Amino acid sequence: MNKIKIPKNRIRNLKTFTLGQKPYELQYLNPEKIKNNLIDLCSNDYLGLSRDKDVIKASYEISLSEGLGSGGSRFITGSRPIHTLLETKLAEWLNQEKVLLFPSGFQANIAAVQGLANRNSIAIVDKFIHNSLLVGIKASGSKLVRFAHNDLKDLENKILKFNSANKSILIIVESLYSMEGSIAPLKEISEICKKYNVQLLVDEAHALGVLGPEGRGLSFDLSEDITMLTGTLGKSFGSGGAFIACKSNIGEYLIQTSGAFRYTTALSPALAAGALKSLQKIKNNKEWGIKLLSASKKWKKEIHQNFNYPIKGESQILSIIIGQEEKTILLQKYLEKNGFLAIAIRPPTVPVNESRIRLTIRRDLNLDILKNFISVLKAFT
Ligand SMILES: Cc1ncc(COP(=O)(O)O)c(C=O)c1O
Repeated sequence: MNKIKIPKNRIRNLKTFTLGQKPYELQYLNPEKIKNNLIDLCSNDYLGLSRDKDVIKASYEISLSEGLGSGGSRFITGSRPIHTLLETKLAEWLNQEKVLLFPSGFQANIAAVQGLANRNSIAIVDKFIHNSLLVGIKASGSKLVRFAHNDLKDLENKILKFNSANKSILIIVESLYSMEGSIAPLKEISEICKKYNVQLLVDEAHALGVLGPEGRGLSFDLSEDITMLTGTLGKSFGSGGAFIACKSNIGEYLIQTSGAFRYTTALSPALAAGALKSLQKIKNNKEWGIKLLSASKKWKKEIHQNFNYPIKGESQILSIIIGQEEKTILLQKYLEKNGFLAIAIRPPTVPVNESRIRLTIRRDLNLDILKNFISVLKAFT
């Protein structure tokens, strides 16, 4: 194989973690095999459901009756009652006609874009959409046009510029941006889409389970105006896999045409059963999202008052913008030495000079942890 030529500052080392003793801890197995319990301030397991005993039990029990893996695609041996049940329950919860499961959000996003766009399409997308959506655009053969982050004027200008009789337009946004923690003005975006009669795809990966009415996502009240939404089960749901939600006719079209749906081993029954249990828990604990957002506001305020770098984020995702890559890495290492795991996010994931520490606030973090974090942060120079 050719030697990979990657600039030194783009090389990332894979780190290995196992669970720590406390529900909010991870243990870093460093190269010297020293085990370090670190407070998890960066996973997307926002509600702590990945280690919820009932969720794990549901996964275990179904594995005994269905096997661990599905053994085939949905059209061969892979379709199990748990898939249909989870799809139905998710559709009900989201007030959508059809839900289709996928093995990952990355794959669901590719399928979503390929289902809505082709060589005759123009995908007009927010500058900060996830890599999986960009891969989907490439795979669909459509033309990529970006608009400035959350900028409605720029979005409208781009639609006006590229609107033509022989091209179809697909707008793609996230509801909660994974690296900015910013929220899309979805109502206004959907109104623009209606005005110009263009399609709208919303990636709800980080919002579902936390944001929107009872955690049902930021597009919940707009389900009539959104062509398709994607969600993942690997974040707030603490499981794995993902889904597309849409109208029945679009769902049927995907079942018949989407390679990403048809030619892949179906989601493991264990993950589907775990996700279904998580869904039940989210439904039974409607206050979780609101409480988490209020805790996150507190973290943001304390960090803002005690640390001399800008902090962004309107949700459970907060970003402390450090700027320089080297300094951000130093801060990550310093936090790690002091018991906190929060990863430095650097270009190309974020723009140059906008390197940051991305924090995710979890349901199980308490005020003592916040106090301790602030005193550690204050001592960083
Ligand atoms: C916005 C967004 N969409 C999609 C995905 C992909 O989801 P999954 O991890 O289920 O593949 C991610 C994952 O990081 C994401 O942040």
